[in-house]
Amino acid sequence: MIYRIKQFYRGLFAKVSPEDRQFLKNHLSDQEIQLFYRLRIGEQRHCLNIAYDCLSIDKNNPALLKAALLHDVGKVKSNLTLINKALAVVSEKLNLPKKVMPKFLKKALYFKTHHPKIGAEMLKEIGTETAVVLLTRYHHEDLAGKLTTDFQTEEYPGRERGKNREMGFQQDFIKTLQILQKIDKKN
Ligand SMILES: [Fe+2]
Ligand SMILES: [Fe+2]
Repeated sequence: MIYRIKQFYRGLFAKVSPEDRQFLKNHLSDQEIQLFYRLRIGEQRHCLNIAYDCLSIDKNNPALLKAALLHDVGKVKSNLTLINKALAVVSEKLNLPKKVMPKFLKKALYFKTHHPKIGAEMLKEIGTETAVVLLTRYHHEDLAGKLTTDFQTEEYPGRERGKNREMGFQQDFIKTLQILQKIDKKN
């Protein structure tokens, strides 16, 4: 709860500096930058903070860095303002039945649940690397121990490929995903 309140206040006073803008230019394509700036300012700050934290943990993981900046782009068409986000969290905690929910709350919950998938599709459309698309797609899922066909792909730049190449891709992917998830939660 205290974490949520902190997050709310941070969102209220969020800013993006000229240095941040340069950082975005250095790491994203023009289309990705356009998408990024469609996020609410609080979300932009959230993603930048995650990206800086990721850089301090792993300097040599460009997919992690880009996913940190882009993982929440599925929220660009949402109504997830600070207030609506707080209301969505409360309604989930109270297990509020959909029938009694006002429309705006249903919409907020829809984007809260589906923004990873929506974001991954948006990124795929503008040609973002597969690794970043997949990190975005699964950034709220626990994939440990699961084998899905999605990331058995040569395009994923795995760095710890084992004898079984597919498992190697997957293990590397999950490691990176878990770093992203941990830092996302802290921010
Ligand atoms: Fe998210
Ligand atoms: Fe996030």
